[in-house]
Amino acid sequence: MTKDKESIIRSFCCVYIVTLILGAMIQFSNESEFVVDMSKMKLTLVPKDLPPKTKVLDISQNYISKLYISDISYLLGLKVLKLSHNRLQCLDFSIFKFNQDLEYLDLSHNQLQKMSCHLIASLKHLDLSFNDFDVLPICKEFGNLTQLSFLGLSATKLRQLDLLPIAHLHLSHILLDLENYNAKESGTESLQILNTETLHLVFHPNQLFSFQVNISVNSLGCLQLTNVKLNNDNCQVLIKFLSELIRGPTLLNFTLKHVETTWKCLVRVFQFLWPKPIEYLNIYNLTIIESIDEEDFTYSKTALKALKIEHVINRVFIYSQTVLYTFFSEMNIMMLTLSDTPFIHMLCPQTSSTFQFLNFTQNVFTDSVFQDCSKLVRLETLIFVLSPNFVQSEWCHYELYFAHHNLFHEGSNNLILILLEPIPQNCIPSKYHKLKALMTQRTYLEWPKEKSKHGLFWANIRAAFNMKLTLIAENNDAET
Ligand SMILES: *[C@@H]1O[C@H](CO)[C@@H](O)[C@H](O)[C@H]1NC(C)=O
Ligand SMILES: *[C@@H]1O[C@H](CO)[C@@H](O)[C@H](O)[C@H]1NC(C)=O
Ligand SMILES: *[C@@H]1O[C@H](CO)[C@@H](O)[C@H](O)[C@H]1NC(C)=O
Ligand SMILES: *[C@@H]1O[C@H](CO)[C@@H](O)[C@H](O)[C@H]1NC(C)=O
Ligand SMILES: *[C@@H]1O[C@H](CO)[C@@H](O)[C@H](O)[C@H]1NC(C)=O
Repeated sequence: MTKDKESIIRSFCCVYIVTLILGAMIQFSNESEFVVDMSKMKLTLVPKDLPPKTKVLDISQNYISKLYISDISYLLGLKVLKLSHNRLQCLDFSIFKFNQDLEYLDLSHNQLQKMSCHLIASLKHLDLSFNDFDVLPICKEFGNLTQLSFLGLSATKLRQLDLLPIAHLHLSHILLDLENYNAKESGTESLQILNTETLHLVFHPNQLFSFQVNISVNSLGCLQLTNVKLNNDNCQVLIKFLSELIRGPTLLNFTLKHVETTWKCLVRVFQFLWPKPIEYLNIYNLTIIESIDEEDFTYSKTALKALKIEHVINRVFIYSQTVLYTFFSEMNIMMLTLSDTPFIHMLCPQTSSTFQFLNFTQNVFTDSVFQDCSKLVRLETLIFVLSPNFVQSEWCHYELYFAHHNLFHEGSNNLILILLEPIPQNCIPSKYHKLKALMTQRTYLEWPKEKSKHGLFWANIRAAFNMKLTLIAENNDAET
């Protein structure tokens, strides 16, 4: 039994499981004949004599520094061209003039500084991010890309009207790489991005957040910031930046990735976001630095439904655990995921909690999690990941807990057992009446041994969860 496995033993959730559709169908279409993968082959030139019917050409992660029209002009059916992670410095879009079906062009992670423009009307996905452009690489021809849905860009400086040529397009996703952005000496700059559903900004990984551009976007639904480094001094810079950007009522999803912050600043950011219209807040890879002290926080009315924090590194070694855990356990939201954290504990909420879904996968929680806690009665379903070891050493706490609170009585459908390894009946200590009964009565799920199937496993559980919600809605419809 490895530590690793033990860490996933305790998974709490509230999901109604109706059905599980197990097994995935992987379809190999005829299309795969026309897929040419020549990535990571140390190529310096695009290979000659590719199959003329090639539809998907992947020549990413090579050393290609020049593209010629003859390299691809004979690939008349080419739809997807992946050229990321090469050494291109300049690009003439007219080399694609014979590729009238080209929909997906990935030129990210090159050294592009210059482009010559030409309209490729079929483009849906154009990625020019992580290049060496000085100003945003926008051709007036981009304004005619009526099918464009994704646009990736990079720049070291921004001018308010840089994106004007594409202002009338309705993009679903703009990625703006600002890793090498140089702030102007004085004043706040501004940038107008007229329409996009999702905006993803990437900052420099090792610089303190100092971005002071007033970005305005119409009907932004989803915002992601990557590489955000905060301390108590620049915290306000982020809050000011966000308050300009998320002024409208449409922003429902906000994701932060690779964040380093003091606890004080983190709490301030949460406090700023709490009354906003945001419903889903995700933080991936959070590092907490300096100190963790008690901060004032008002759990005001919030639109927030789900907070998900995945992968936490705590660089503070001495602090009050109560401060840390109370902050989360008192949240007035429905769904909380804290996964892959060094947290060892979770406190019982002081008043009746609004939590309906708790996912504490991959933590080092001890068995004191929510022990003797009756404030979580709204939890509708509990998922257990069982290992023989867990059964032997820790199940006893739950036997008592279930009995005490009269939870999960026989015939109820709301306790789900997931077996990490097969557990023979005779391994279950005889005093565990509840577990014995559960194991004989209900169907349980086996945790797939292959890591590659774990994603599918959770996806199936989620699918079942969504299906139940749909069913409820349909029943209501039928009744009214
Ligand atoms: C591009 O769009 C403009 C108007 O937005 C139009 O006048 C022009 O003809 C279009 N060009 C092409 C090549 O489609
Ligand atoms: C930011 O831009 C918006 C819209 O362009 C404007 O209303 C607002 O006053 C600007 N904020 C600042 C601080 O310049
Ligand atoms: C926001 O996130 C939720 C949950 O992850 C997702 O279902 C929804 O589609 C997202 N909405 C947008 C606008 O991206
Ligand atoms: C997490 O973010 C830090 C910066 O805050 C970065 O140095 C580190 O590489 C990231 N870790 C992962 C696994 O992405
Ligand atoms: C619980 O969280 C982990 C990590 O974020 C995720 O992989 C898993 O799918 C979640 N489980 C459910 C049932 O949503």
